[in-house]
Amino acid sequence: MKIEPAGAIAGHIAVPGDKSISHRAVMVGAVGEGETIVRGFGRSGDTEATIAAVRALGVTVDEDDIDTIRVHGVGLRGLREPSGPVDCGNSGTTLRLLAGLLAGQAGRFELTGDESLLGRPVDRIAVPLAEMGARAETTDGKPPLIVEGNGLEGIRYELPVASAQVKSCLLHAGLYAEGRTIVVEPLPTRDHTEIMLAAAGAAVTRRPGRVAIGPAERLRLGEVDVPGDFSAAAPFVLAATLLPGSELTIHDLGLNPRRTGLLDVLERMGARITAFHRRRSGGEPVGDLVVQSAELVATTVKAEEVPRLVDELPLFALAAASARGESSVEGAQELRVKETDRIETVRTSLRALGIRIQKRDDGFGVRGVPTRPKGGGMSSNGDHRIAMLGAVAGLVSREGVELGDAEAVAVSFPGFFELLDSVTQR
Ligand code: S3P
Repeated sequence: MKIEPAGAIAGHIAVPGDKSISHRAVMVGAVGEGETIVRGFGRSGDTEATIAAVRALGVTVDEDDIDTIRVHGVGLRGLREPSGPVDCGNSGTTLRLLAGLLAGQAGRFELTGDESLLGRPVDRIAVPLAEMGARAETTDGKPPLIVEGNGLEGIRYELPVASAQVKSCLLHAGLYAEGRTIVVEPLPTRDHTEIMLAAAGAAVTRRPGRVAIGPAERLRLGEVDVPGDFSAAAPFVLAATLLPGSELTIHDLGLNPRRTGLLDVLERMGARITAFHRRRSGGEPVGDLVVQSAELVATTVKAEEVPRLVDELPLFALAAASARGESSVEGAQELRVKETDRIETVRTSLRALGIRIQKRDDGFGVRGVPTRPKGGGMSSNGDHRIAMLGAVAGLVSREGVELGDAEAVAVSFPGFFELLDSVTQR
């Protein structure tokens, strides 16, 4: 698919529901009591993998509409041992968060996924789950992962890496453990699990740098209104910032501060972004954003900020390439264990478009020039965040970008290209 250069981005949009929150609503709904209605469900290959996984575990999920689903909870200990492995597709969130719930069930569960997922680390959950008393067996630290529940005991666990998925896995297991489970974070990561479990009635207590959970007797969510996915909005935010004359409004967007690190970084670079109509929905901060074009200057993203924009760092590379001066990202070694090694895929995909990125072990450096990149042809290696980076690069380029595997975007964000087209002025 060819993405042609654009003049400006203008208009009003809303993006699909937050993927992280959608996964959690299905999982917590599955082990909850009664029916959970999820409105604004963020449909994507990954969240569909979560629906398929809970169905394989005996949960009924009705899909009333593309973005409205009803999950019929089976209760905390009601998940059933399936006849074969549970396929988590491409989704690390599905596999890691589900493993925590399965550690509390009777039976033996095998979690597997596609080729990319089979290359990603799960020892980071297997080690603490085993410490809690579960049997958690990896294949050289990677999936397939076999989880067998047992009498779990609460532990205090200091996360060796800042990861919301690992934290969430342990909080899920903590629902079934005797005593309290305490997770200490080196840096604040997204807190959707804490917010949702508390809303469902779990005994969650939070202090700066740590979250604790006690055993639960029952959970009940009832209704979840999922706000727009900040990570899905981010390509639009960047395109509107980079294309002169743009003005874009994004409505009903999740603005959880542990997700919006890109806004802070872009603002530091000179971007013109205003949030208004701030409110809360089910404990999650929500608002509208207005983005106007601006000229950017270089900045450094420090390790402390990384978890708040971990999925947006590929887009930051493009922002930095268009900003005056030398930018860099530090302390982002986690990029190497995402759907692809994103330090490598950012570098190779942007190089094909005439943008030079200097890779480092834990990040990258970029010498920016405030002109349009040339463009060309690139492949994302099936990584949806890299494909979205390619789409924005095409809009802001001189010659356009031929996207080798545009379907990676369509799977992750159905309707992305149509939405982009609706606000693009040529
Ligand atoms: C996610 C956490 C992050 C993020 C991923 C979604 C979540 O992963 O990159 O896209 O929903 O908890 P890590 O916890 O591995 O950093």
